Amino acid sequence: MNRRFDPSGPLRGSLRAPGDKSMSHRAALFGAMCDEPVRVTGYLEAADTYSTLNAVRACGALVEEGADRGTLTIRGAGLRAAAEAHIDVGNAGTLMRLAPGWLAGQPGGEWSFDGDASIRRRPVDRVAIPLRQMGAWIETTDDRFAPFTVHGMPLRGIEYELPVASAQIKSCVLMAGLLASGTTTVIESEPSRDHTERLLARAGVRITRDGDRIELTQHDELELGDIHVPGDPSSAAFHIAAAILVKGSRIVITDMSANWTRTGFVRIAERMGAVVIGDLEKPNPGTIARDEPVCEVDVASGPLKGTTVEPHEVPLAIDELPLVALLGCFAEGETVVTGAQELRVKESDRIATVVDGLRGLGAHIEATEDGFVVTGNGGLRGGTLEAHGDHRLAMLGAVAGLASRDGVEVVGMDAAAVSYPGFESDLASLLKPT
Ligand code: S3P
Repeated sequence: MNRRFDPSGPLRGSLRAPGDKSMSHRAALFGAMCDEPVRVTGYLEAADTYSTLNAVRACGALVEEGADRGTLTIRGAGLRAAAEAHIDVGNAGTLMRLAPGWLAGQPGGEWSFDGDASIRRRPVDRVAIPLRQMGAWIETTDDRFAPFTVHGMPLRGIEYELPVASAQIKSCVLMAGLLASGTTTVIESEPSRDHTERLLARAGVRITRDGDRIELTQHDELELGDIHVPGDPSSAAFHIAAAILVKGSRIVITDMSANWTRTGFVRIAERMGAVVIGDLEKPNPGTIARDEPVCEVDVASGPLKGTTVEPHEVPLAIDELPLVALLGCFAEGETVVTGAQELRVKESDRIATVVDGLRGLGAHIEATEDGFVVTGNGGLRGGTLEAHGDHRLAMLGAVAGLASRDGVEVVGMDAAAVSYPGFESDLASLLKPT
């Protein structure tokens, strides 16, 4: 499906972005691991997080969808009683990397995993390696890809230093640690999103953090009660970027996650000169908070200057780095992203697809091994951008179109439904004359 996004007038109004994708995946999985019912509000209704609901249903959980949008009751299968299943993860990398952490330690069970063409190109050895060190039996394709099978085995705790700053690997090892004998320690050199740690702390797990060491011990039963999933800062970021770039814009994003491990993009945009006012959580590395803070942000358009995104900032803005490249096209001077080689194994090779996509719209942008360099040249001409089946590329093209001189035709706009099916109508609601 192709869609044209023409240069627009200012964005105005307020909006709640759809429920956070990372927290929704975790709400479904952790809900399924509980014995008592878990009520979820704000759940993301999108292809990726429906895959997770289907997965937990296949593993024996009952999921009742409430009358209000995004409201669910999950009656779990329990921490150690998942039913054997074939799990189709669709396009959801987070489901593919987290669910094995729950299942690998359930002896006697067998779970097979597969997904779409993009998921079959994304590595799972990054979770299979630590799980095998814990005693897991996992058969992967070509040593590192889906389809793969998890055979439940007794696990033992390990100390694992993450080879890349990845919340998915961290979460998988911690989840496996709940069922493993002894203590499980994950060492992360750079902080990444910490929703798993917060949920585990809330669920009564003895989990501690000392500097870069996160530790937990085997656990019997998780208890969560209610979970509210706030709006996704990664989805809100598209509207925030559009409001920054289109002259005269002023928008408010409500009920957005203010978790500091998710708001790196706002901090980078502010450094570039953008005016984004909101009560964001202050960075607090080395501790585990129990709650997920929410905020309202107020965004206005304004001039930008280039910046350098350092490697330690990358995990805190990983999914928004394509938008940093877009802002860079409109900024004075150079915008450089380094230490972001992980972008190469996202839904597409996001260094290649962002660089090719924006260059096709007139950007001065060069790929590097671990990021890109953009030289602002007063904006973008416009043209055609191919989404490559990547939801964030499709939405990037839409925002680029609004801010461009001639407009942008996005090829494959339907990919947006993976995380944000209502994206076009939400964007249109901000473009209505007031
Ligand atoms: C996610 C972690 C990140 C992120 C992805 C969601 C999560 O991936 O890019 O969209 O929910 O844990 P990595 O852990 O691979 O960096």
